[in-house]
Amino acid sequence: MRRHAFALGGAGLMLGVSTLVVFAQNEWTAPPEPPEFAAQSEPIFVSVSDIQEYKALPEYHEPDFVKAFVDAGKLPPVAERLPKEPLVFKTGNMPDGVGIYGDTMRHVIGGRPDGWNYIGGAQQGWGGIDIGMYECLTRTGPLFQVKADELEPLPNLAKSWEWSEDGHELTMHLIEGAKWSDGDPFDAEDVMFYWEDNILDSNVTPTGGGTPESFGEGTTLEQIDAYTVKWTFKEVRPTQYLYAMAYGSFCPGPSHLLKPEHPKYNADNTYEEYKDAFPPEYLNFPVMGAWVPVEYRPDDVIVLRRNPYYWKVDEEGNQLPYLNEVSYRLSTWSDRDVQTVAGTADFSNLEQPENFVESLRRSAEDGAPARLQFGARTIGYSLYPNLSGNGWGEPNELSQAIRELNRNLDFRKAITFAIDRQSLGESLVKGPFTTPYPGGLYAGTSFYDKDSTAFYPYSLDTAKEYLAKAGLEDTDGNGVVNFPAGTAGGQDVQITLLVNADYTTDKSLAEGVLAMMEKLGIRVVLNTVSGNSLAEFQQGGKYDWAMLRNGSDLVSVVQGTAGLAPVGPRTAFSHRAGTDGSLDLMPFEQEMVDTINKFIASADNAERAELMKTYQQLYTQNLYAIGLTQYPGALLINKRFVNIPAGAPIFQFNWAEDNIIRERVYVPADAQSTNELHPNTLPDVPGGGGPVSN
Ligand code: GLA
Repeated sequence: MRRHAFALGGAGLMLGVSTLVVFAQNEWTAPPEPPEFAAQSEPIFVSVSDIQEYKALPEYHEPDFVKAFVDAGKLPPVAERLPKEPLVFKTGNMPDGVGIYGDTMRHVIGGRPDGWNYIGGAQQGWGGIDIGMYECLTRTGPLFQVKADELEPLPNLAKSWEWSEDGHELTMHLIEGAKWSDGDPFDAEDVMFYWEDNILDSNVTPTGGGTPESFGEGTTLEQIDAYTVKWTFKEVRPTQYLYAMAYGSFCPGPSHLLKPEHPKYNADNTYEEYKDAFPPEYLNFPVMGAWVPVEYRPDDVIVLRRNPYYWKVDEEGNQLPYLNEVSYRLSTWSDRDVQTVAGTADFSNLEQPENFVESLRRSAEDGAPARLQFGARTIGYSLYPNLSGNGWGEPNELSQAIRELNRNLDFRKAITFAIDRQSLGESLVKGPFTTPYPGGLYAGTSFYDKDSTAFYPYSLDTAKEYLAKAGLEDTDGNGVVNFPAGTAGGQDVQITLLVNADYTTDKSLAEGVLAMMEKLGIRVVLNTVSGNSLAEFQQGGKYDWAMLRNGSDLVSVVQGTAGLAPVGPRTAFSHRAGTDGSLDLMPFEQEMVDTINKFIASADNAERAELMKTYQQLYTQNLYAIGLTQYPGALLINKRFVNIPAGAPIFQFNWAEDNIIRERVYVPADAQSTNELHPNTLPDVPGGGGPVSN
């Protein structure tokens, strides 16, 4: 009771009376202490300026095979392909120093590409393909190694920025003279096309998830000149939005290719046609990233080769990347673990607990090809009840009745009390890996506060009481509760649960939830769809409940902050605006929104920490979403690769494919493989008809 009174005092002061009423009963406890599980390697903390800078170097170098293209007159000299001041990675921050060229990094993925128009909503199959192809205004992946008190996104396509005195304007300077991989200049036109015709055009849903509200309500962006853009915010100095300008919400596409396909400029095209204008078969799609797709075979492979116009170098002037190629076998996510452990692939984020024990065992053997390193518990799953009561996704009568239930706290309590999180975690893997997850911010992350976290312990009896309180009773004695007569015809409460088919873990957890709900008296029907179709259901509001792996917002808080609550009509995926464009927020959600808006507007660290405590209380006590399990992942990388930063997490601000700074990763001479699938090949250079070999 004491602990509860203490936590409540804090919440009560900040939140006012409505919250006090809701939390009058002491039925939640502190979450159980996660089992001891230390990360196996810690970062060396540095400043952003220790990692990179922008400057001209006296000379530049490139791989011999690329030089041969120059000598043959097929490509301009390297100095002309680079911007005036390339991004230079500092040697002091490279664990193994300046690298050498060559070799390939072989990935395996469970996703499938449906096109290259990332900003128009096409997906590439994940596993870091998009991270390798598209670059963004700022960059956050490497922030895991930046000192906490200096935390601010790394400059990337935006090489510098300054705030106006009143803090409302942010002027950004783009890198000057950088080129897309086909030689076309990158400039403010690309940035403005992304903003005006993709972000602001509500017919377009960029794959990375950017919406106007991700950058603040009423925010504008204008072009000043070819390499300068200016943001104007309603808030004062909202440095927060610098995170939204990173992967994946501000990574512009090649306007010279995309504009002519956009319905605004092309009356013959629908938005669907715009999205699909560059199918995976379309090779050499221009990118700002380190690698360009040069081969695609359905259900087999995607091969990407080095971008001859890449705008990053090392301190000796060697144009990056060091690796000539990255490839993606189109298989399953589980196979990624198996193959990387076996040495037939090079990289995996070991994130499916079902594979932990075997991977650990094999990696510990003498001569194991891959090194395996566990990080913090930043992978978590939640059950998201669809909280829209006013028509988002156009629910039928049954689904609308379920939405009403979802909006009833007694019902959400019934669900949470019926979930045995300990067993759920153990069904994935035994041992110290998983820990019960109440939802909200993860234990072990910087803004987490245990005293602000409400954990509803497993109790089927209590769950049933709440179900009855929500007005649900098994009136026909078939073991499934019914809606009250008069609602949805008094039929059985049958709920559709949206699940990603691409991952074993997602399917196992969904089966577990289904079984636990059955005991409660709720029938759950799984709608298990491929990763590619998931977005359509999720963003279209076509689900009753969704069970998903959470994003980086709940890990870092400072990234994707606007998505932490329904601050705008399209920001929070589990509660979007209804058919009339309005958001029917419940009072606790409105408090969450206010808290997040204050967080975004605040630069005071102590205040921000307090606001996140409030957020966590609101989230976990009201069960905005229902947490399931939380566990660590491990980075698996073939031992021949070096320059892998210490403590690189598989998931924090971004996925490991960004965190390890792949463009700096290399293979020492004595370890180079002959695995390149297209040796001596460059993506098409202007005028060519496909990938060209020297
Ligand atoms: C998928 C994988 C992750 C990671 C990301 C990168 O989501 O499950 O491990 O590779 O792609 O985009």
